[in-house]
Amino acid sequence: MSDSASAINLIDIDSMLSSKTPQEILRYALENHDNIAISFSGAEDVALVDMAHRIRSDIQVFSLDTGRLHAETYRFIEKVRKHYGIAIDLVMPEASKVEALVKSKGLFSFYEDDHKECCGIRKIAPLRKQLLTVDAWITGQRRDQSPGTRAAVPVIQDDKAFARPEDQLTKFNPLANWTSQQVWDYIRSNNVPYNELHDKGFVSIGCEPCTRPTGPGQHEREGRWWWEEATKKECGLHAVNIES
Ligand code: ADX
Ligand code: SF4
Repeated sequence: MSDSASAINLIDIDSMLSSKTPQEILRYALENHDNIAISFSGAEDVALVDMAHRIRSDIQVFSLDTGRLHAETYRFIEKVRKHYGIAIDLVMPEASKVEALVKSKGLFSFYEDDHKECCGIRKIAPLRKQLLTVDAWITGQRRDQSPGTRAAVPVIQDDKAFARPEDQLTKFNPLANWTSQQVWDYIRSNNVPYNELHDKGFVSIGCEPCTRPTGPGQHEREGRWWWEEATKKECGLHAVNIES
């Protein structure tokens, strides 16, 4: 199928799936892709793990271990691994690249330069490598998570940012139409484990030096890379949002 034909096909599938529940979208994703993985980090993702695990118990899950996560996040990853009896691939950055960055610019260069270089080494390059091993991936992005960059996130998309040349990489965002409240209602009513930082005022959680709690009236994204402009608050994992 040509590139434009497959893009049109995905737009049709997106309009068919966008009125479905996250569970129905996940079922479609898992039935149509054997080699598919959940990109796991936060509250949205653990809800997806819970839903997916009910459909397929050997679901593939990976998490990008930047080396800068909170201790609470490592405990959370471990809690999820044990709770569901699943393997979680911890994907690490290339040591020589991290060493070179830290040697030339120190441990907190992102406060001076912006976060692109550090995220590039600690998140984007490892994600690119990991995505070479799958045909499709699943994320916990929601449209209302970031009005500037995620307002148009589709349920299914052709991920040109991370696809192998000549190949298609499909990205599913089953929670695109859910609110944070719906995610938390799901977590509470299904006794899903969550990161203990949420009980300390954190909403959107990334790396420890680049995340802080948010107060009432603040948007969750304001707790991430707070020293940068709102329009830059994407680390590149979801580059396809910006490119499209
Ligand atoms: S980020 O791009 O700003 O860091 P965010 O924290 O909003 O992303 O999470 C959106 C989705 O990106 C998550 O639901 C998850 O699928 C994926 N994601 C974010 N951080 C990681 C990570 N460290 N490891 C794996 N997936 C991640
Ligand atoms: Fe580095 Fe911060 Fe990006 Fe983590 S979020 S990879 S610490 S710049």
